[in-house]
Amino acid sequence: MNDSDGEFDIDRLTERFFERFGRGESPPEVFFAPGRVNLIGEYTDFSGGLVFPCGVDRGTVLLARRTGDSKFRLASTNFDLFAQLSRDEIGRTYGDNWINYPLGVFDRFRLGGTVLDGIDCLFSGNIPNGAGLSSSASIEVVTAFAVNELHGAGLTRLELVQLAQAAENEFVGMQCGIMDQYAVAFAETDHAMQLDCSTLEHRQVSLALGDCAFMVSNTNQRRELNESAYNDRVAECRRALLSLQAVLPLERLGQLTPDMLDQHEKHLDDDPVAARRARHVAEENARVSAAVPLLEAGDLAGFGKLMNASHESLRDLFEVSSGPLDNLVRLAREQSGVLGSRLTGAGFGGCTVTLLPRAGIPAFERKVGRAYKEATGLTADFYTIMPGQGAGRYAS
Ligand code: GLA
Repeated sequence: MNDSDGEFDIDRLTERFFERFGRGESPPEVFFAPGRVNLIGEYTDFSGGLVFPCGVDRGTVLLARRTGDSKFRLASTNFDLFAQLSRDEIGRTYGDNWINYPLGVFDRFRLGGTVLDGIDCLFSGNIPNGAGLSSSASIEVVTAFAVNELHGAGLTRLELVQLAQAAENEFVGMQCGIMDQYAVAFAETDHAMQLDCSTLEHRQVSLALGDCAFMVSNTNQRRELNESAYNDRVAECRRALLSLQAVLPLERLGQLTPDMLDQHEKHLDDDPVAARRARHVAEENARVSAAVPLLEAGDLAGFGKLMNASHESLRDLFEVSSGPLDNLVRLAREQSGVLGSRLTGAGFGGCTVTLLPRAGIPAFERKVGRAYKEATGLTADFYTIMPGQGAGRYAS
């Protein structure tokens, strides 16, 4: 993203680390995981569908050091809480706090048989929280990479992704799919990835967009993601799958095509909510399959139209939009040159992503910012996306 606060000052963070944890015998090692923006393919991942996210050049830095004792000490430059836990305390959640993300990761390593000894961790992030840009997956994945390296656990990148997702599903209690953790771990600079969430294979696609750019607009409507609303969607998709399995050989809802649904929708007559969710998943998957080749062929107008259709479907069929999101999308589309705009991530607030000509960005920010404020009373933030590198050791 384009603001200067995208930079991390590792020397200053190392000093903060020493102030908090003492100089010890060795300096901390430094790890990084980005956030992500999903360009199209929303709410398809937990049904084994297709998604198309990219990493962003903001994320979470983690300075970490093994201590040789059995204390787990966690601090962040973003939050006040400082926690010190013993080994038997790491299997428990800690209220509703951010440290549940690293704790969930420690717990999964422990359950997988890694003998963890003490670790000092200082986190520092520059992804806006609760904006749908995966600040939580970024924390989980950077923790997983650090523990894997420091403890020599030997997990592959994909295993770390799965461990981080399991931490969120089973420890934090959000039944999320795998998109966020996967995108954060496998992102490549200047690329987005088409990920098949059933095979867990991905293909990197160049985002050399010539005169155009993807831009993120933050509603600044605090997205209390609402684990329960998200988990309801997961349950509704399961319900749709179960009903359709009576008439179709489906293993997952992601295999459903719009044609199949046209033929068998009457099996969902008793459950119109499940019918709407299934329609979204089938059509959104078809949109990803169509959109990625369009982008590769340079048909950005075609890609933008599918982004628009994706938003309408998330609003009307999947019902995860909000007044501020719809306003921001509407205002974006009114600007000259804009090719497409949609909510990104889990919705219920958070951010939109818009495809537009680079030269139009200053006017876009000014006009949309003003009109959005008038319409909602909220102040939007804007970031140009620079698709960034995935998780690993921090490279300055
Ligand atoms: C959240 C979840 C993802 C995905 C998106 C919606 O970001 O963590 O797994 O379901 O919502 O596409």
